[in-house]
Amino acid sequence: MQRRFEGRVALVTGAASGIGRATALRLAAEGARVAAVDRDAAGAQRTVAEIAEAGGTARSFACDVASSAAVAETARAAEAALGAADVLANVAGIGDRGGAPIESIDDTVFHGVLAVNLAGPFYFCRALLPGMAERGRGAVVNVSSLAGRTKSALGGLAYTASKSGLLGLTRHLAFDYGPRGVRVNAICPGGVDTPMIRSAAAAGAAQGGEIAKLRAAHAAALQALMPIKRLSSAEEQAAAIAFLASDDASYINGVSLDVNGGLFMA
Ligand SMILES: NC(=O)c1ccc[n+]([C@@H]2O[C@H](COP(=O)([O-])OP(=O)(O)OC[C@H]3O[C@@H](n4cnc5c(N)ncnc54)[C@H](O)[C@@H]3O)[C@@H](O)[C@H]2O)c1
Repeated sequence: MQRRFEGRVALVTGAASGIGRATALRLAAEGARVAAVDRDAAGAQRTVAEIAEAGGTARSFACDVASSAAVAETARAAEAALGAADVLANVAGIGDRGGAPIESIDDTVFHGVLAVNLAGPFYFCRALLPGMAERGRGAVVNVSSLAGRTKSALGGLAYTASKSGLLGLTRHLAFDYGPRGVRVNAICPGGVDTPMIRSAAAAGAAQGGEIAKLRAAHAAALQALMPIKRLSSAEEQAAAIAFLASDDASYINGVSLDVNGGLFMA
């Protein structure tokens, strides 16, 4: 394992589970001191314990990324505990119900998904980018989705809108902060074997009805067309995040990197 983050501090949201957990472990294994942020305090603590067991340094922070005040407080607490962040990985995210007709999506659901998936990364970028720019270095990786590039086979309308918006946020910040030494990129995972995709698949199957049948057929067709005939592991996504966050990607700024095994190519 390389040590590309020796002496650096990384803040990772969604660090209790799936891609966020794998990213926290990967960055710590490469030398970063990691702030493991999640609304699931016990899960974040478990990730921190795993990092410590492997000889790394990490602290957990319970935080709902949809809360502007909680994010500002967490950013301050993480800096006080570990030092100023060099890397920000915005991984926390939630899905919504695929196949739900627009008239069935109430304001609470729509705004709730956007609050976590789009406002959360905005709040953390707002809290951390000015400091990175002042120090003249930093890297942000936002976790969007295949849904942000096209649409989702399993997720719904608000999920697609949030992940697409996140790519716009990424490009805009890359333009604004590139001149000040901060790179901002995104990855767009395809299907990743994590609790999120397992629960989305189960919810889709339980939905029943014509739309559920069509979506299942769509998902099966996609699977048949996958050039790499399996889901990705969380670790494969974490490897892409670590690459974009590292100096190996020093001239890469504003990209939406597809990490989908070639399922969608453009
Ligand atoms: N699994 C996939 O197939 C897939 C595909 C494309 C994109 N993604 C994206 O990858 C990211 C990680 O997903 P995953 O598959 O690892 O899911 P996961 O459910 O395993 O992990 C998501 C983590 O985010 C945390 N979280 C959710 N809402 C939060 C909030 N408001 N505040 C703080 N933490 C919160 C959860 O507690 C959980 O630990 C998400 O942004 C997701 O949209 C996943």
